[in-house]
Amino acid sequence: MGIIGAGGIAGAHARRYADISEAAVTAVADIVPGRAQAFIDRQGWHGARAFTDHRELLASGLVDAVDICTYHRGHHRPAVDALEARIPVLVEKPLSVDLVEAVEMVRASERSGAILSVGFQTRYEPRLQAARRLVADGVLGNVYYAEVGGGRRRGIPATPGKEPPTFISKEAAGGGAILDIGCYSIDTAMFLLGHPRPLSVLAMTADHFGKGGRTTGNRMGKWDPERFEVEDFGAAFVRLEGGAGLMFKIAWAMHLDTLGPTFFLGTEAGLRLDPEPTLYRDEHGFATQTTVAVPPAPKNFDAFRQKIQSFVIAVRDGGPAPIPGRQVLLEEAILDGIYRSAAAGREATIELPEDLLGGLERTAS
Ligand SMILES: NC(=O)c1ccc[n+]([C@@H]2O[C@H](COP(=O)([O-])OP(=O)(O)OC[C@H]3O[C@@H](n4cnc5c(N)ncnc54)[C@H](O)[C@@H]3O)[C@@H](O)[C@H]2O)c1
Repeated sequence: MGIIGAGGIAGAHARRYADISEAAVTAVADIVPGRAQAFIDRQGWHGARAFTDHRELLASGLVDAVDICTYHRGHHRPAVDALEARIPVLVEKPLSVDLVEAVEMVRASERSGAILSVGFQTRYEPRLQAARRLVADGVLGNVYYAEVGGGRRRGIPATPGKEPPTFISKEAAGGGAILDIGCYSIDTAMFLLGHPRPLSVLAMTADHFGKGGRTTGNRMGKWDPERFEVEDFGAAFVRLEGGAGLMFKIAWAMHLDTLGPTFFLGTEAGLRLDPEPTLYRDEHGFATQTTVAVPPAPKNFDAFRQKIQSFVIAVRDGGPAPIPGRQVLLEEAILDGIYRSAAAGREATIELPEDLLGGLERTAS
């Protein structure tokens, strides 16, 4: 394995490789001189080589696959270059900063046949797997509306000392709360709904906390308001194929503790996701409410390790991408539409290349 981007999250990946017998990290690249070598030294990976240019890592012949851990704006170029060299890619979330990039990444994967998988460890959580099964088995009937999202009262990832700031600068992040944590909510919604085609979106964003320098109680460091270039809040209504609607809300900071539950409304049942999946139905003439006893995860279960291990095994066995870029392309289209709609102040239509819509593994888990 080659790791591209030797920052914070690469450390979390590195810890997992220690437990994955099928893979060893043989090369690390980071554009900041010395950072890749320092990372290798910290991990004790004697023999691994350091690079400052991902293209040299790809050409070194040292790797069978790469794990891209760069900041958001650094995902696209290394991914396309790797895929064009027929090297499979695991890329951290979000897939990309906009739809154009996502399409290029997916096309590069399709052309070369090398897999592109996206690092949403949340998909492996037993609670989400159970909820997905209930929806896929038709327990909810026709799902016509869902609400997803999440909010931190104060949780702006300021990353003091990092240059450019990983999450709050346009240069590194491209977008704020919507790309950073909103992508999980959109992935959850689309995963449960079976990746319907998104049609249009009406959205707004705000940056009152970030731009206002409201650092009170922020658990993730302080920032210079002048350097805050992204949104700290976003809300959107997404129209999906088949007449369904998706409401999305996300906040890095707000004057509230929660933005409400994640739920799905179907013709036969409603499903509330937290704290345990709960089904709301009419049964035997009564309105019932059933908590789903999700089997506890096995001891030592680690969703984060699972996402890396399932990618490694797919590479070894020539299997499909565990979380295919093609699926996440639809999610990226929504995120892209949110920013376009918010900037324009009106509903934005979502255009997707028709040739990339077929053959979606819509029920893949
Ligand atoms: N799955 C998760 O739970 C999770 C958690 C945190 C972060 N992330 C994701 O991981 C990514 C990185 O976050 P982070 O906190 O580690 O950021 P970071 O700023 O700590 O690290 C990013 C590193 O990438 C390097 N880099 C940027 N462009 C590069 C390029 N073209 N080639 C080589 N190196 C390059 C930077 O120099 C930096 O060292 C983000 O996209 C973030 O969304 C995922």
